Amino acid sequence: MNPRRRSRLREDLRVNAARWAQLAATHGTPLLVLEPHLVARRLRQLQTALTGFEVHYAVKALPHPVVLSTIAICGGGFDVATRGEVDLLGRLGLPMHRSIHTNPIKKPADIDHAHAAGVRTFVVENAAEVQKFRGRPSDIELLVRLAFRNPTAKSDLSSKFGVVPAEAELLVKHVLAAGVRFAGFSFHVGSQSSSVEPYRRALQHTLGLVDHVQDTLGVPARVIDIGGGFPVSYREDEPPIGAVGAIVDEVLGPRREEFTLLCEPGRFLVADCMTLLSSVVGTAERDGQVWHYLDDGLYGSYSNVMTEDVHPPILALEELRRTDAALDAVTLAGPTCDSADVIARNYPMPALGIGDLVVSPMMGAYTTVTASRFNGIEPTPIVMG
Ligand SMILES: Cc1ncc(COP(=O)(O)O)c(C=O)c1O
Repeated sequence: MNPRRRSRLREDLRVNAARWAQLAATHGTPLLVLEPHLVARRLRQLQTALTGFEVHYAVKALPHPVVLSTIAICGGGFDVATRGEVDLLGRLGLPMHRSIHTNPIKKPADIDHAHAAGVRTFVVENAAEVQKFRGRPSDIELLVRLAFRNPTAKSDLSSKFGVVPAEAELLVKHVLAAGVRFAGFSFHVGSQSSSVEPYRRALQHTLGLVDHVQDTLGVPARVIDIGGGFPVSYREDEPPIGAVGAIVDEVLGPRREEFTLLCEPGRFLVADCMTLLSSVVGTAERDGQVWHYLDDGLYGSYSNVMTEDVHPPILALEELRRTDAALDAVTLAGPTCDSADVIARNYPMPALGIGDLVVSPMMGAYTTVTASRFNGIEPTPIVMG
C-alpha cells in the first residue's frame, strides 16, 4: 500500500473512527457501512467532469435499493444487463425510461421483458444478436458495441464483447437490413483502467467510424456511449475523473453538439460509499510471519480481490486514532477453511490482537454482489452509516 495514500486515508477517515467503533459494537462484525451521500457526491463529480453526458449507473456494481434511489433522485439513469436487474428497478418504482440494456448477448424473451418494462435502447455486437431484434417493436434502437482491448484495465471487457472496428460497418448493415433503428456506438475500455489514454483511442476510432458509416451507408450515428471503467484509488492513486473529462473534451471538441452522449459508470459511483468493518478472530505465526484471521474474506466482501485482482486498502481502526503506530508486514486471511482465502500478504499493519477492528474503505463496488456463501458463511450485513 502506498504510504502517502495510507496517511491521507487515515486523515480523511479519522472523523469516522468513533462512529464505526459504535456501529461494530451495536451490530457486531463483519459489517458493511453504507453512506448514500457519497454516491450523490460521486455522481456530481462525474456530471461535472463529463458535461452533458447522460449517466446510466451500471446496476451490477452494487444493486442496493438506497444506492439506486439516490442515483435516480440525483437525475441519473441505469444500465441494466439482466432480467433480475430490470425487475429490481421495477419493484423499486425507478424510472425505466432512463435505463439502457447493455448486455450484448441475451435471450429474445429477455428483450421482450425489458421492452415491456420500458427499456428502448439495447446493445448488439454480432450478426446473430441483431437477428433477435428482427420483427420486434419499432421503437427499439440499437447501439453497436465496439471492442478496444486495454491491457491497463483490471478487467478487459473487450476480450469478451464487442465487434472490432474493422467489422463494425458490416454489423451496422445487418442492423439496417433487419429493419431495426441504428442509434450509434458504444464501447467499454475495461474496468479500473489505470490509464485514461484508452478513452482517447476508443473515442477517436469511434468518431472515425461515425463518419465512415455516414459516408458509406448514409446513416447518422446519433449516440456515443463511452461505457464505464473510470478508475478509483484503492491502495494506489489513480487518475482523477477530470482526466477522462479532459480527453473527452479534447477529442470531441465542437463535435460534441452532434451527439447524445452516454456513460455507464459502476465502480466510480459506488466504490467509496461502503466501508467494511471486520474483527481479528485469530492470530498465529507461520513461516516467520504473523497471520491475522479476519471474520470476512475473499469468499465474502473481499470478493473483488479474487474476481478482478482489485485490492482495497486495509487499516486498523486504531490507526485512525493513533497515526504514529509502527507497521509490520503481516498476512491477513479470511474466515473460511480454504487456503486461497488470503486477503493480503506482506501487508503492513500495526500490532493487532484478537477482537481488534480492521477497516477497509472503498468496499462498495463488486463486493457484496460477487460474494458467496461458501463454508456456510452468511452475507455480511449492510447498515446505513
Ligand atoms: C456493459 C457494462 N457497462 C458498464 C460496466 C461498469 O463498469 P465499471 O464498474 O468499470 O465502471 C460494466 C461492468 O462490467 C459493463 O459490463
